Amino acid sequence: MKLVSLLPILLLIGGIEAKTNFKVNGTFYCDYDAWCFFVTLWEEDTTEYWNDVIDTMGTKCVFGRHSYYYELDGTEYEDGPFDDYYEIFLTVRHNCTSYGKRELRRETKFESVNTPVSYTTWNVKLDGDRGVLKDEYV
Ligand SMILES: *[C@@H]1O[C@H](CO)[C@@H](O)[C@H](O)[C@H]1NC(C)=O
Ligand SMILES: *[C@@H]1O[C@H](CO)[C@@H](O)[C@H](O)[C@H]1NC(C)=O
Repeated sequence: MKLVSLLPILLLIGGIEAKTNFKVNGTFYCDYDAWCFFVTLWEEDTTEYWNDVIDTMGTKCVFGRHSYYYELDGTEYEDGPFDDYYEIFLTVRHNCTSYGKRELRRETKFESVNTPVSYTTWNVKLDGDRGVLKDEYV
């Protein structure tokens, strides 16, 4: 039997499969009286052509308030024996703009695969027409 097909079994038997729980919170601020946002927690996957969504909360619209507290929570399992850390980032697409929707991205955070629980706080003032224009929230 090839080592590759044996490895997952060994990991299960050994009970050493690593997982990390990512907990994110923060507040978005916006001076408009009506605004919407879509926040996503991602794991950058350098071996694939796409990134994994760890958690998102759908499109939220806020009326008559200038701040919104959010929380995201999700668990990632170690991809393989060659990854030492997760590369985590967040994006928010929103229409707290003078025109259209824009996306802001948090700088990538590196987290060891041996970390059981990872905490991140991301507070963003959305106003100011910063970030990349997008057609949709998703
Ligand atoms: C954002 O979108 C919502 C829903 O379409 C709309 O009610 C609101 O006026 C928009 N806000 C801005 C600042 O464009
Ligand atoms: C956000 O999470 C941090 C832990 O990273 C915690 O200390 C803080 O109290 C949380 N904020 C709120 C408003 O719950």
